Amino acid sequence: MKVVQMSDIHVGSGLFRPELLSSAIEETNALQPDLVAVVGDLTTEGYRWEFEEAKGYLDRIECENVVYAMGNHDARSVGYRYFEELFGMREGAFVVPFPGGEAKVVVLDSTKPDLDDGEVGREHYAWLDSEFRGWERGPKILMIHHHILAVPGTGRDVNILSDAGDVMAILRELKVDVVLSGHRHVPYVWSISGVRIIHSGTVSSMRVRGTMPPSYNVIEFGPEEVSITLREPGKGEGEPLASFSREPVTSSRFYPDFNRFVKYDRLPFLKE
Ligand SMILES: [Fe+2]
Ligand SMILES: [Fe+2]
Repeated sequence: MKVVQMSDIHVGSGLFRPELLSSAIEETNALQPDLVAVVGDLTTEGYRWEFEEAKGYLDRIECENVVYAMGNHDARSVGYRYFEELFGMREGAFVVPFPGGEAKVVVLDSTKPDLDDGEVGREHYAWLDSEFRGWERGPKILMIHHHILAVPGTGRDVNILSDAGDVMAILRELKVDVVLSGHRHVPYVWSISGVRIIHSGTVSSMRVRGTMPPSYNVIEFGPEEVSITLREPGKGEGEPLASFSREPVTSSRFYPDFNRFVKYDRLPFLKE
């Protein structure tokens, strides 16, 4: 299975570079991925014209499965309503076929209107569990804009998911294969307690940090290994970013029962 992960497009910013986005989309089409995961911050201020302009580019992606996540910038100026109008549901679960299997993709909206902070929220935990538990037909992929773990090379860390601990415990319990995130504009990969978190940089803006240029990730799930290539739009094949075994290998065991730490709330209006 091949996945292209891109994020932090930032149409509307003076630092947006349309030629980078066009190149990334052309290269994505040439790669013929099974999934294109766009992990938030399509816009800068959440204005309708920004979403429309972003859509003008992103509609050129030929892949049948393109999934969009909300970013904090998309939630500014009540932009989430335009996101829904132009890009569909802010949250959902999708089955993505690939040769030899089917991946389960869950996209969560971690944003709050006008705040840069992120949160999954307890009311989502049981739903996340119901989508991922028992899925054996292919990779389990979570898309969420905000970072669960701090990303190095980004300065002082801010806006980490406010319920990151609970979310990490759930991902470990559910053996989620990979988490795709953006937000920090620096590509990085963590593998911790069997949870793999893959960050993409900013694909098409000069809102970069430190040494990392605008970039996106190409993720290939092989039978034994998952490999991630970092690509700069318009600059060819890219360089290896990370790889890990398809099955999580962890030397850590933790013995107390999961529900001593995380309790799933039930939405009061939902019946059992
Ligand atoms: Fe961003
Ligand atoms: Fe962001």
